[in-house]
Amino acid sequence: MTKITLTTKEFDQLPKQCVKIVLTEDKPDWHRLVETKDGRLEYRMGAGKRKDMTVRKYRTLVRSIVMAAKSHKLTHIALQLGPMGCPKLEEKGSKWYYRTLAEQLQLATYEFTTYKSKKSDYALKEIMICGIKKAADKQAFKTGLITGEAVNYTRDVANTSGEDMAPSQLAEAAKKAVSGTKAKVKVLDHKKIKQLKMGLLDAVGKGAKDKPRLIIIEYFGAAKKSAPVALIGKGITYDSGGLNVKPTGAMHDMHMDMSGGAAVIGTMRAIAKLGLKKNVVALIPAAENSISADCMRAGDIATSMSGQTVEILHTDAEGRLVLADAMTYAEKYYQPKAMIDVATLTGASLVALGQKTSAVLTKSKSLQDKLVEIGEDTGDLMWPLPLWDEYKSSLKSTRADIANIAVNFARWGGCIEGGTFLSFFAPKKTPWAHIDMAPRMESAAGDKLVKGATGEPVKTLLRYIETS
Ligand code: BES
Ligand code: MN
Ligand code: ZN
Repeated sequence: MTKITLTTKEFDQLPKQCVKIVLTEDKPDWHRLVETKDGRLEYRMGAGKRKDMTVRKYRTLVRSIVMAAKSHKLTHIALQLGPMGCPKLEEKGSKWYYRTLAEQLQLATYEFTTYKSKKSDYALKEIMICGIKKAADKQAFKTGLITGEAVNYTRDVANTSGEDMAPSQLAEAAKKAVSGTKAKVKVLDHKKIKQLKMGLLDAVGKGAKDKPRLIIIEYFGAAKKSAPVALIGKGITYDSGGLNVKPTGAMHDMHMDMSGGAAVIGTMRAIAKLGLKKNVVALIPAAENSISADCMRAGDIATSMSGQTVEILHTDAEGRLVLADAMTYAEKYYQPKAMIDVATLTGASLVALGQKTSAVLTKSKSLQDKLVEIGEDTGDLMWPLPLWDEYKSSLKSTRADIANIAVNFARWGGCIEGGTFLSFFAPKKTPWAHIDMAPRMESAAGDKLVKGATGEPVKTLLRYIETS
């Protein structure tokens, strides 16, 4: 773990082992490690022209500083980054600037070593930040550190193998995430799920050894009577595809199919640690989509908690099933003022958008605009796809009310199809948005992040709650 500290010392007063990072206006891939006259090391790095700096480039720049330090095996580095006379950063204000700095430093220092048998003998031990003077900026920096830590917690949960992160273990991870805070965790077990007639969550989870759970995290930081926001995260702890089993190459990373659930857990961790004066409830329908004598079959019909019957035409379209029941539960027991679900729902979202942005689908123009705008602000990018009633007819089932995939097995617009299925279970009056985060489940080339889970969209959900 890298220590990230604020210091009031000037650069030259820092211990000699500290390598000073100096940004130049050279091209972004230019760098040089030099020894200065007083025998200190200085790492000079191109950041491009100041007038060309954007918030997107700034986030990547912060991460590449850390990545460069790691590749040169530097153990202590020091940075002094003001808005550096970059007009576009100055526009955002210093609080944004320092919060983002802290968040991005946290993201870049992250490593997942749980399963490595040998500990590496090198570690980036400390990053010292000089020159932050105003109390408000220091506060913003601390908020950023807490946010970044919650993102990394999310990544740890998502990176853990399916064997070690079954539904009951995901429930434990949720408890650990908010332990020592005001947030409360309730876990509904399989028996309770059946009692509540959550037939879709039951169908998906019943075939596994570790039975399904509905994990609920409540956080009431405002007056009890004000309606909460509901955050719902897909918690498929392993997605084999079920009897419609996934092929080789599409299954091995499905331990991350609870990334939406992990993100919601991480968001609650940050909310609770920051003590936000907001009411938020998180719901994570957790299940393993497994294969056994007890598992659901293609062609089975299950009754959802909403009463609508669903023909399960494809056992690999399981995420929408568990989310549907969680959405019904959220509406019935919490009457939220807004609902956002986050899920690694479809491979089709990757076909549509590539690996750089999540998809957002909603009928609420203001919620859409807000999420896209916040995404731009935090770096968890969001891009809209339509959620139109015209798409509903393809899901009309012959034997039941609706089918979980297009009844003609066409694969067109799979991401929209997933959102459309969920819309049958969405609250009628409450604004609701569906985020398909499959594109951001894993980091991609150019992200300047280690391989594996990204921990998105924790930063965006958190900012949404802060401004809701
Ligand atoms: N978890 C997958 C979607 C996914 C794929 C997430 C790749 C991240 C990376 C989801 O449960 C799934 O299997 N979806 C199917 C839906 C299809 C059967 C309609 C898909 O995308 O193929
Ligand atoms: Mn699936
Ligand atoms: Zn899945």
